[in-house]
Amino acid sequence: MGQDYESVYARWQRDPEGFWAEAAEDIHWYKRWETLLDASRKPLYRWFVGGEVNTCYNAVDRHVDEGRGDQDALIYDSAVTDTIKVFTFQELRDEVARVAGMLVQFGVLKGDRVLVYMPMIPEAVFAMLACARIGAVHTVVFGGFAANELATRIDDARPKLVLSASCGIEVKRIIAYRPLLESALKIARHQPRNCVFVQRETARAELAPPRDVDWDEAVAAAEPADCVPLAATDPLYILYTSGTTGVPKGIVRDNGGHMVALKWSVANVYGLAPGEVYWAASDVGWVVGHSYIVYGPLLHGCKTVLFEGKPVGTPDPGAFWRVISQHKVCTMFTAPTAFRAIKREDPEANLRQNYDLSSLRTLFLGGERCDPDTLNWARKHLGVPAIDNWWQTETGWPVGANCVGLGLVPVKPGSPAKTVPGYRVCAVDDGGREVPPGQMGSLVIELPLPPGCLPTLWRNDHGFRETYLDDYPGYYKTGDSGYVDSEGYLWIMSRTDDIINVAGHRLSTGGIEEVLASHPDVAECAVIGVADHLKGQLPIGFIVLKAGVRRDGAEIAADTVRMVRERIGPVASFKAVTVVQRLPKTRSGKILRGTMRKIADGVDYRMPATIDDPAILGEIMDALRTLGYAKRG
Ligand code: COA
Ligand code: AMP
Repeated sequence: MGQDYESVYARWQRDPEGFWAEAAEDIHWYKRWETLLDASRKPLYRWFVGGEVNTCYNAVDRHVDEGRGDQDALIYDSAVTDTIKVFTFQELRDEVARVAGMLVQFGVLKGDRVLVYMPMIPEAVFAMLACARIGAVHTVVFGGFAANELATRIDDARPKLVLSASCGIEVKRIIAYRPLLESALKIARHQPRNCVFVQRETARAELAPPRDVDWDEAVAAAEPADCVPLAATDPLYILYTSGTTGVPKGIVRDNGGHMVALKWSVANVYGLAPGEVYWAASDVGWVVGHSYIVYGPLLHGCKTVLFEGKPVGTPDPGAFWRVISQHKVCTMFTAPTAFRAIKREDPEANLRQNYDLSSLRTLFLGGERCDPDTLNWARKHLGVPAIDNWWQTETGWPVGANCVGLGLVPVKPGSPAKTVPGYRVCAVDDGGREVPPGQMGSLVIELPLPPGCLPTLWRNDHGFRETYLDDYPGYYKTGDSGYVDSEGYLWIMSRTDDIINVAGHRLSTGGIEEVLASHPDVAECAVIGVADHLKGQLPIGFIVLKAGVRRDGAEIAADTVRMVRERIGPVASFKAVTVVQRLPKTRSGKILRGTMRKIADGVDYRMPATIDDPAILGEIMDALRTLGYAKRG
């Protein structure tokens, strides 16, 4: 059997279960599965039922047991503290075993949740793997979220323990984590028993015993804990992501299927061999961080880079080139936004000349739409293929990509190339009928989803079905719209819901609207995502004031900006909001957000036939112009 993309895809299509059974041979099993794919609760499926595994064993201990203990595993590179620390697999195992022991000491049992609220430091990786080691379920929360978002996650996951740090460092700004956590715990109904803090020298936290504990002291007092066999279907983690309302969805990942899929993807999608260096310049708080900073590369025996810094400003737009050359990175993954940021500051990539980038074979871009300009710029200046790949928190690994490990297919800039083996993607119309090649539709994945994708939402099978499975029976709804062309290339055009993507960060405009609507002077509001040359999209808000409000509109607008920062977090990048007299609506009262977005982006739009009062659009256009949008309108 040839290993080219077409033949591997055909092999999967012929015998999907045989394909995954074969891939599962690459994983260490304490006990093999009894049922490869359990379809008895359709449309809910489970992979590798009856099997027993441990993700930490496969990611760490296994390499030591197989004689690779001296090989580097984790390379921590902090551009904000000027620190580099390297951990071999053996050192990583010892660290993780002690942290796991600490969890046990705090009474954490299999199935208990542990919330990880940490910056990009090695302890975050130890924490995740330590949970995996003893069967605790980690839920990592990104540092850029506000206390309120953290509280929502605490209440949904109900963690027994919180693992945190004294601070994060945003270029030069110090983010004290403990006050944020403290505010979250004041809002949350659920209270963890203990909070353990890594004390960073940059800024230490004042701890309040007995609840608060010093990480180093607790770890020093713990006995190392060993890996525990877990059901393949047991949850490994919950990762919350924005849904169509302000309430985040708890995406669940299992142990067995997740490992099988990730290990397969590192070899076949990303084209890496064990021992090579993989760098995902993302954050452990996002799915890219879970899959390709922590689990994927380690499962495959690769070295993984944990970079604490930014593409620009730490200290300059040459930071990425420095990391690639210093650590001999073979494959890099980041969001197009990062390259747009570098391009903006160093348009000719002059700093690139200072570094030897000969180790780099491939650049992967994902997490948001990859515009051809950015792709071409990266390809030109790095001299390696730049590969778009499309996936989501829910799937956990690429759905669409140019599978480097199976041989590149020709690149079509703007398309994440072809459907990855394991998935069948098609565009469907509103009635759920597949549309012909080239025709736009809602992008769906035929069920069952492959291993590694979410089996359900945390304690919410009903929500899982309602959000993803009910609209198009037999398919999983991705929430993206687009088409598949006649050569089988995927084209991802936009979301079908209110999700926007800001600098590769996923946000719900509905969630921002909820914050705006809670302002006492706001009668109604709308938030839309508009095109931005750096961050891909940015949210902008329109507010209509209640009758009789006397306060200055600009002051109220400023209040709402502050409220979004306080309730959702700085990561929302919500800075533009304007007061309008009315919002454009259909006669049935639906706000015409799509039309507003088109006006803002300066693209052609048709006057909706159902619009209540066409004159309002002129007012919206004026408001957008004051914010610097709708230039072509
Ligand atoms: N903790 C606290 N605050 C954070 C944070 C964190 N972990 N991450 C971001 N923020 C803050 C930023 O400091 C910024 O605050 P500000 O409004 O006070 O300036 C705000 O959240 C918005 O952050 P961001 O959208 O990341 O903008 P930025 O201007 O700081 O950086 C980029 C822009 C392009 C350099 C950066 O977004 C980037 O590198 N993105 C691509 C990589 C990536 O992480 N992708 C994720 C998925 S792969
Ligand atoms: P997240 O769950 O944060 O990874 O966001 C997933 C969403 O980001 C997808 O549903 C898409 O809307 C968007 N996205 C991710 N990668 C791509 C890509 N390569 N091209 C287009 N959109 C993408």
